[in-house]
Amino acid sequence: MKNFLVTGGAGFIGSALVRGLLANGASRVHVVDNLLTGHERNLADIRGAVEFHRVDIRDAGGLKPAMQNIDVLFHQAAIPSVPRSINDPVPSHEVNIDGTFNVLQAAKEAGVRRVVYAASSSAYGDTEVLPKTESMLPQPRSPYAAQKLLGEYYMSIWAQCFGIETVSLRYFNVFGPRQDPSSPYSGVLSLFMTAILERRAPTIFGDGEQSRDFTYVEDVVALNIKAAAAPSAVSGRMYNAGNGGRITLNEAWRLLQKIEGVSIPARYGATRPGDVRDSQADTEAARRDLGHDPRFTFEQGLRATLDWYRKEHAAAVTAP
Ligand code: UD1
Repeated sequence: MKNFLVTGGAGFIGSALVRGLLANGASRVHVVDNLLTGHERNLADIRGAVEFHRVDIRDAGGLKPAMQNIDVLFHQAAIPSVPRSINDPVPSHEVNIDGTFNVLQAAKEAGVRRVVYAASSSAYGDTEVLPKTESMLPQPRSPYAAQKLLGEYYMSIWAQCFGIETVSLRYFNVFGPRQDPSSPYSGVLSLFMTAILERRAPTIFGDGEQSRDFTYVEDVVALNIKAAAAPSAVSGRMYNAGNGGRITLNEAWRLLQKIEGVSIPARYGATRPGDVRDSQADTEAARRDLGHDPRFTFEQGLRATLDWYRKEHAAAVTAP
């Protein structure tokens, strides 16, 4: 039986990955999280199967105990958000670059066999051609995009120079249950979910015709588990972790209104600095080398996510 560690394991994607590993046969999973953007409640139902290390990845020394006897490490800890990295660049630099360096160093020293890294589709920037393929030249447009790209390069370099196996997965706008909607930096679909349930208009930045390859969290979890098990030949490489589709924000908001049977016109604001116009993954390489097989259409993922938010919302409204 392999030992797994998930950094950022109390976060939205990290906690889904912990659940996925347990469902896939792991008896215990180690989690490193500083609970800055993650929450212990995300692990509440599986707490007994989690070895929780409350550590900030900026603390290199603090990481060491969590790495002992780990076979595969999933590095999900990060300060996400393009606008956050522009408005407040120091913490995102420290966590996403220095923290990633600390994780790699500690993993190498502890003899971890493989690191699977949460990279970001933001590294592509505005490419002329869609879908975006792994061979395209990166054109990061924000500190966040550059930080995540550097993380990929470090993964590849650590594989080449230090013999640790690494795989980077470029996430394409992941959404699903437990995505925290409480910050202005939250993912747009989590903000749309709370807006529709509260019968409020969301704010769309720009004309709403920008598009994203929204990818359901369960499909990303499944791909991570496949990347952990893939042959050593994939080591040092980067793959798109997307669904392959492309939905505009206007389409997403229209669909939510249709599902709920309401008509609430969105408000429109200025385009966000650093925003990418269109995003869509070419999934071919991940399918070929990792066995990627996304199962959720956008609408299926959206409905499942909305059901989860509805239950949370109802619980919050009836709480004493
Ligand atoms: C980017 C990355 C994504 C990464 C994420 C981490 C791209 C294409 N994607 O997401 O892979 O996981 O960073 O944070 O770079 N918006 C609104 N109203 C709102 C909030 C957002 O209209 O209230 C718009 C944004 O301007 C943007 C779109 O919705 O056009 C998506 O924004 P967001 O959910 O923040 O993700 P990205 O920045 O696309």
